[in-house]
Amino acid sequence: MNERLAVCPGSFDPVTLGHLDIMTRASKLFDRVIVLVSINADKTPSFSAEERIELIRAVTKDIPNIEVDRLDGLLADYVREKGACAIVKGLRAMTDFEYEFQMALINKRLCPEAETVFLVTKSENMYLSSSMVKQIASFGGDISSFVPPEISERISARLIRKPKKELN
Ligand code: PNS
Repeated sequence: MNERLAVCPGSFDPVTLGHLDIMTRASKLFDRVIVLVSINADKTPSFSAEERIELIRAVTKDIPNIEVDRLDGLLADYVREKGACAIVKGLRAMTDFEYEFQMALINKRLCPEAETVFLVTKSENMYLSSSMVKQIASFGGDISSFVPPEISERISARLIRKPKKELN
């Protein structure tokens, strides 16, 4: 039987427990999952593509059918080139839906061979986002319940704001 390959794309800036939950669940549904870190020239990420990839590799190292790659172009082209049968995305609140629905329709038009599969987030991750994590960490807040434990300190250390020098 043909291998069932899925891609799980996102910015992952940085990866959160919500993302990891979706990746883990996808790894149980498909034979192989490629987590794809998207490089968007219009966005200025807090973590470089290499750092984001490294963080995801660190938290998925014990899941043998997950690998990590970068996406420099169109998702639909990547999906077709790899022969993936699905694009897996996590859905949190209804606020995600409009945008995700639009992307799913466009990707279907560009790559009819693949299906977009939405996995509904766990309720505890409903309001969790990378931007929240970044904001909390930048003010020295505790992010340990939002990101995988093995990368929590690294993210905090990287994002904490240095105190500005007082102006006389
Ligand atoms: O984490 P995000 O910001 O929700 O991820 C969005 C992502 C990376 C899935 C989306 O921006 C994407 O697919 N980018 C690749 C470029 C592309 O294919 N654009 C057209 C999709 S409709």
